[in-house]
Amino acid sequence: MTPSVPGSHIAGKLGLTDRTFAGPRSRTLLSAVEAGLKRVDAALERELRVTDALADATSRYLYEAGGKRVRPMLALLAAQLGDGVTDDVIEGATALEMTHLGSLYHDDVMDAADKRRGVPSAHAVWGNSVAILTGDLLFSRASQIMARHGDRAIRLQADTFERLVLGQMHETVGPAAGEDPVAFYLQVLSDKTGSLIAAAAQAGVIFANGPEEYEAAMVTFGEKAGVAFQLLDDVIDLSDDPEETGKVPGTDLRAGVPTMPYLLLGQRTDASSGELRARIDDGVSRIAEGDDPALLDEPLARLREHEATRATRELANAWSQEAIDALEPLPDGPVREALTRFAEAVADRSS
Ligand code: IPE
Ligand code: IPE
Ligand code: MG
Ligand code: MG
Repeated sequence: MTPSVPGSHIAGKLGLTDRTFAGPRSRTLLSAVEAGLKRVDAALERELRVTDALADATSRYLYEAGGKRVRPMLALLAAQLGDGVTDDVIEGATALEMTHLGSLYHDDVMDAADKRRGVPSAHAVWGNSVAILTGDLLFSRASQIMARHGDRAIRLQADTFERLVLGQMHETVGPAAGEDPVAFYLQVLSDKTGSLIAAAAQAGVIFANGPEEYEAAMVTFGEKAGVAFQLLDDVIDLSDDPEETGKVPGTDLRAGVPTMPYLLLGQRTDASSGELRARIDDGVSRIAEGDDPALLDEPLARLREHEATRATRELANAWSQEAIDALEPLPDGPVREALTRFAEAVADRSS
């Protein structure tokens, strides 16, 4: 990993910011984006206030717990293709981060995840109903912010959110009989995660009045970088370092939520892979019946070291490369360079 940028307040949080802005040409960009991120955080802090005491506490809970702010960072970076970090850009970035935040409340209910951002997940503290309603509250707040910016902004918000929800829905129901599970799952990743990251890249350009000819390139870039980001999230699900991830290792697989390493394992025809897959499936069924989730510790450790997990990393690199290729219409310079590093870093991260 490259060393942190000296003097940076956010560098090292993920390794993503310091890597995105590595190199002397990026110093000015880094200060602009860092200053913008502080403003986004101040806006989140303000916009998450609710008069009702319980709703106030639950709405601020995951915001206060941390988060990498990947989507606002990308929006602020993309804004450099236009007028830079304007008030409008801050609002767009804030609304999209709030949409992301709301989706985390719901996602943890669906994935039966006990921890998020290093703290007990919202449903573990307040129960499913309050967690779901808090997510809904955040979605309405995000829409209120977008509504201040006219039809185009509210349309972007609605279209993105529709795709995100359908991605989560398709992940939940799985592929139809005869459908290729890997191709199906890649579409799920595009929809549940690529959509919002693409919207962040697009919002950066449009809220900063950037040239129209860069908009399509940034949408493709965000979508593909988003798939790479989510593929790594699947690898991180297998991490045995909860300190670093802030999540319970193997949350998704223990709850029977498919991830790419598991699906690629299923494509392997050798006996050992078949046996590992059968053990995971058996463990998932037993956990669903109330057995100790720790019974999957050893099989998940084997999957972490399996060739299928290495292949998932390679797939993430391929999507990252496609994201970089999409930058072709952009002029050479520090912004394109930072976007290139951003795409490389999302496919090679540990939290
Ligand atoms: C988690 O996103 C959910 C996914 C779409 C993978 P992040 O990894 O960006 O979560 P935070 O905001 O840093 O907590
Ligand atoms: C989350 O995907 C996607 C959305 C919230 C839309 P995951 O379930 O894979 O993300 P983590 O691993 O819980 O952060
Ligand atoms: Mg999850
Ligand atoms: Mg999920």
